[in-house]
Formats: sequence, structure tokens, C-alpha cells
Amino acid sequence: MTTALVTGAAGALGRAIVRRLAADGHQVAALDLDAGSLEGALNLKTDLRDPAAIEAAFAETAARLGPVGILVNNAAVYPARPFLEVPLAEYDHVHAVNQRAYWLAAQHAAGQMSELGGGAIVNIASITMHGGWSDLAAYVATKGAAAALTRALARELGPKEIRVNCVSPGAFPTAAEEIHADPEAYERFVLERQSLQRRGKPEELAAVVSFLAGRDASFVTGQTIEVNGGWVMA
Ligand SMILES: NC(=O)c1ccc[n+]([C@@H]2O[C@H](COP(=O)([O-])OP(=O)(O)OC[C@H]3O[C@@H](n4cnc5c(N)ncnc54)[C@H](O)[C@@H]3O)[C@@H](O)[C@H]2O)c1
Repeated sequence: MTTALVTGAAGALGRAIVRRLAADGHQVAALDLDAGSLEGALNLKTDLRDPAAIEAAFAETAARLGPVGILVNNAAVYPARPFLEVPLAEYDHVHAVNQRAYWLAAQHAAGQMSELGGGAIVNIASITMHGGWSDLAAYVATKGAAAALTRALARELGPKEIRVNCVSPGAFPTAAEEIHADPEAYERFVLERQSLQRRGKPEELAAVVSFLAGRDASFVTGQTIEVNGGWVMA
């Protein structure tokens, strides 16, 4: 049984990832700003903007469940605003949650994984990193960074048998879509672009995370897997 730590665990995709990793037989620590009460997980209310809080969550996870062998960096914020109007504080907030926390969590995880003789890190990016997206520049930049960080860490941590991969979701019907003014028009927009003519389910995203985190992917590292119903084909 491996200890898995998932960030942004109270969100739609995070919940599905926690449920799937628990079903896979892992002990799961679920971190989120929302207190959360995911059944079968160690729920840790954690503000990922705070480096000390991240450190404390890793320490508590190790103390209660054992060293972390799987990390899923999934939390994100995505305030929508025209580029020229984005205040610096908002840019800093987006980068603190979507990028700096990924970095810090990976540092803590890699330390604990070294004790175990290996592990798996999965970073969550976004389809928006490929084609860009108006009014989301800071978010899109952090998602490109998640994929690039994946490759850099995969290169550096491979000799420690720590695999680092990335999952890039397309458009899943979650609360994140509330940023779009007309939900029906957005749904049409998505289906016109996807090859598969239906919306993805969070479980379908979680299944790919599970694969990358597990033994079946033991020779896979440094990769980004697109899970988008055939929208962007990389
Ligand atoms: N939903 C989609 O269609 C979609 C598309 C592309 C990429 N993604 C990516 O998938 C991941 C999950 O997305 P989602 O749709 O479940 O989003 P969501 O907004 O439902 O969940 C994100 C979670 O992160 C948490 N969070 C935000 N700031 C935090 C902080 N400071 N400290 C701790 N937790 C914090 C939120 O409380 C929330 O529970 C994100 O990385 C997102 O970029 C989602």
C-alpha cells in the first residue's frame, strides 16, 4: 500500500482522483483550502499559498500514513480577466497555487520518495497551454510551466527511480466552467472541437492519473498525456 497525496482534492477532478487512488488500494492524503471530508482519505485543510502549510501537510501525512510515494499536483485557481487588467496580486496568487505549490510539493514528495527508493509524481496541466486562451494568461502560463517542470524533474529524479508525468485535461464539465457566460454555447463549442461527441467524466481523467501513478507505468516518465476527447492531438 502506497501513501498518495493529492492537492486540490475538494474540486471535481481532485475528488475523482482521490476516489480512484483509494480504490486502487492507496492511502490518500487529500489537501485543499476547503476543509473537505472525502471518505476514506486523510483530509488536510491546507492553504497551498503558504510554504509552511505545505511542509506541515507533508509532515503530517508521513507521520500518519507513512512517506509519500505518489504525489498528484492538481490544485489550481483560474481567475478570468483581460491580460492588461490583471493586478500583480492576482498574477502572484495564480502562480503561488498553480506553480510554486507544485514545485514545493514535488520537493517534499521527492525527499520522502527517496526514503522509499522511488515514487511517482503526476502534475495536472491544461489543454489551454497548447492553443492559448483569452483572459486566462496567468493560468495558461502556469499550465505550460507544469508540463515543462514535469520534464525537468523527470530528467533529474529518474536516477532516484522517481517518475514524473503530466496529465493535460481538456474541457471537463466541472465548476471551472462557471467562468463561461453561456454554458450551452460553451458545450457546443467544446463538442465541435472534440473528436468524441460527448463530455468527459472526471473518472476518465482519474483513470489516467491512476495509470501514471501505478506500476503499469513503471517505464513511463517525462510524458504529458492529453485527456481531451480528441480535441488537441499532440
Ligand atoms: N475542469 C476542467 O475542465 C479542467 C480543464 C483543464 C485543466 N484542469 C485542471 O484540473 C485541475 C483540477 O480542476 P477542477 O476542475 O477540479 O478545479 P476546481 O476549481 O473544481 O478544483 C480546484 C481545487 O483547488 C483548490 N484550491 C484553490 N486554491 C487553493 C489553495 N490556495 N490551497 C489549497 N487548495 C486550493 C480549490 O479549493 C478547489 O477545490 C486543475 O489543475 C485545473 O487547472 C481542469
